[in-house]
Amino acid sequence: MAVTARSHAKINLGLAIGPPRADGFHSLVTVYQTLAAHDRVTVAALPAAQTSIRLSSNDARVPTDERNTAWKMVALALDHLGLAAEVSIHIDKQLPVQGGLGAGSANAVAALLALEAELGIAADPAQRPSWQAERLQLAARVGSDVPLFLVGGTILGLDRGQSVFPLPDQPSLCCLVATPAVGVSTPQAFRDWDALCAAGQESTAPSARLTPLPDDDRLGQLSRIYAGACSQAGFHPEVAARMDSSGVLPQRQSLAGPLVSALVRTGIGNDFERVVFAQHPFLAQIKRILVAQGTPEESLYASLSGSGSSLFGLYPGRKEAEAVAQRLRAVGVESLLTHTLPRQSYWEQVLLPTAG
Ligand code: C5P
Repeated sequence: MAVTARSHAKINLGLAIGPPRADGFHSLVTVYQTLAAHDRVTVAALPAAQTSIRLSSNDARVPTDERNTAWKMVALALDHLGLAAEVSIHIDKQLPVQGGLGAGSANAVAALLALEAELGIAADPAQRPSWQAERLQLAARVGSDVPLFLVGGTILGLDRGQSVFPLPDQPSLCCLVATPAVGVSTPQAFRDWDALCAAGQESTAPSARLTPLPDDDRLGQLSRIYAGACSQAGFHPEVAARMDSSGVLPQRQSLAGPLVSALVRTGIGNDFERVVFAQHPFLAQIKRILVAQGTPEESLYASLSGSGSSLFGLYPGRKEAEAVAQRLRAVGVESLLTHTLPRQSYWEQVLLPTAG
């Protein structure tokens, strides 16, 4: 028997970068949001004298050895639990491989969840109450963007992004993800941000002075602002009710959901846009199309996701998102129409029924 798990994409509703650290990472404050769009990860495992892992994928670009995040996650978890197994992992890639959607990180968590179900690991929280804390730590060793997928929904990410806190569950919103054929290296984007900040501190040019200082105070302030916006924006059932009613046209703010509205009011944004748009002006053009300012399709919010190259727009409904997708197609950019996935739905859907 094998177990299949959905491996959902994420976007970053906002991302603020702090100074480089001695460990080679940057402190940051981010708000992650999981999406309905997903890959599928299937794991078959049998206890064995020695661990062996095999990995396959329908997409030739997916590494099939120990460089793969799903491989790393399974190897770490078995080692941590003192178990040995013969494991085979299959990754059915549906998500675009363009960066910024956390697809590889999500594959790691989906593989872990499927492995747990397959081997009956920590099925009973009473048996191993510390398992969630343990697996969050293991996930953080695989990558900064991995632990968020052990929470799902809307999540505050701190430290290097691996320290995750669930935010109030929000009504689902229509999301259009643009997937331009541009590659962005995340470590390089961090280095470019450092260079921009260093130049801003040295320069007296007015444009350079606009670069925010990458200090920990700014990050502390932002995390308090986001946490404040989130606590004010607890889920309001009347907002969901109004979203479903056909007769009353809800206020734009209600459509965005209380959290997105509150975050937009804080001026949430993604620091990576400063460096990535400078290097790839086409991505700034895509954002303008996603924003659709002044048109009936105007987005509730649009941004680069992570360091890109994926960008997203949130819309009141499919009709608006489809019109924007059409405009993207006209400039040769593919997109993916999906919706934000609240935490409860995330956990209800993550494991697929076993076929036998
Ligand atoms: O954690 P992850 O493997 O995704 O990080 C990849 C690279 O991105 C790191 O080696 C580092 O160069 C950069 N990074 C960073 N600060 C973070 C996260 C990632 O500088 N908070």
